[in-house]
Amino acid sequence: MAEKPWDGRFAEKTDAAVEAFTSSIGIDRHLYDYDIDGSIAHCKMLAKASIITGEESLSLIGGLEEIRGEIKEGNFEFSDRLEDIHMHIENRLAAHVGSVSRKLHTARSRNDQVALDIRLYLRDKSRKIIYGLMQLRKVLVDMAGRYIDVVLPGYTHLQRAQPVLFSHHLMAYYEMFTRDTRRFEEGLERINVMPLGAAALAGTTYPIDRAYTASLLDFPKVSENSMDSVSDRDFIIEFLAAASLCMVHFSRFSEELVLWSSSEFKFIELSDAFSTGSSIMPQKKNPDVPELVRGKTGRVFGSLISVLTLMKSLPLAYNRDMQEDKPPLFDAVETLTACIDIYIRMLPNIKINPSQMADAVSTGYINATDMADFLVCRGMPFREAHGCVGKAVGYGLENKKELHELSLDELQSFSDLINEDIFQALTTRQMIERRKSYGGTSTDNVSAAIHRAEKQVVGEIKSITAQST
Ligand code: ARG
Repeated sequence: MAEKPWDGRFAEKTDAAVEAFTSSIGIDRHLYDYDIDGSIAHCKMLAKASIITGEESLSLIGGLEEIRGEIKEGNFEFSDRLEDIHMHIENRLAAHVGSVSRKLHTARSRNDQVALDIRLYLRDKSRKIIYGLMQLRKVLVDMAGRYIDVVLPGYTHLQRAQPVLFSHHLMAYYEMFTRDTRRFEEGLERINVMPLGAAALAGTTYPIDRAYTASLLDFPKVSENSMDSVSDRDFIIEFLAAASLCMVHFSRFSEELVLWSSSEFKFIELSDAFSTGSSIMPQKKNPDVPELVRGKTGRVFGSLISVLTLMKSLPLAYNRDMQEDKPPLFDAVETLTACIDIYIRMLPNIKINPSQMADAVSTGYINATDMADFLVCRGMPFREAHGCVGKAVGYGLENKKELHELSLDELQSFSDLINEDIFQALTTRQMIERRKSYGGTSTDNVSAAIHRAEKQVVGEIKSITAQST
């Protein structure tokens, strides 16, 4: 057998530099399992459609399984001369099953084969990412339940704004990661479409049964148009867009962990097992894990931009450019998966410093809105109350006193609507508990949100576990 399946028309050998330049085996070797699964389904379909015999099919399948074992155990030789994983496996098949190996590629092209492989790969990885995000959401819900009594300042413009429950803050991330979960689930619908049978681009003359191949590989749909089947990479771009957004969420969370663990905030302490030291400054304990997660966000954005740019303006149908989809895709999958995993491990090990958070809530005129609300409840229009409290804040700043540290006389000098009930209204507890509007930070609201989320995510985890057993 000629070494390259396509070299029949070539009189000269490929230049070694060209082999090295065009080869993708260093990257797409990671697709071997999916490639073999796809080839086995293809063999079964060829036999069912009487394109090859049952005996030939069994022999091909046996050989493919042997090759799977060789690759798994590291007994397989990869070389640039054979370009990609598809050619490696097909070429090696001859050593296992002899000349029947030359029938494997009947009614198939590497163009539809690689489209199938990436879909199988991304379906598998998306499911793992979805499951990982569910576990992360469960960790968040558990933490939110555990710290329901802890209050910290909520910020706008990174200035202390109003007090919130720490659990409420954590549950904001629960919402973000829930939307991420849904985005990956929706993407999965478009990944889960079977392209094999498009062949090079136009379909095939053989009486293939695409629905049968799809059912063997557990695809609910076959692709509609053979040209689109081999040139569509939308599902990769959608995945990368969802991954980028998910990394945006991780980067925001990471930024907060970095800030909170600084001496300036001291709201949290990362456990020693999740921190590193400095080689020069003995006192340092650095938040490298959240910093790296924040940094890795750029890689995932880069992958999205790479594949968008790669696909832009490509004429139909397959173009070799598309081989460049795999490095950014694989890198983004690995990066995101690693970030999800490390967060699941790191979060439960964070030490919370509630007294430091409480101290931060007691200064910075964080109860100014509540003083305005107090006046509004007693009949003052909100804008007027805003101005009146603004004056009280100015007075407090001049006299180095917080609003709740002013005497009743001092407070009453700003409005005669004020009586001693004001002191109760300005306590942190009241500020939290009076924010009962749906989605607000009162303990009742947040407890109910945690309860709903717990039910939701435990249900999701259960249904995934039931599907996979
Ligand atoms: N290695 C190629 C890729 O990843 C497989 C398809 C090659 N097809 C071709 N006509 N050269 O895209």
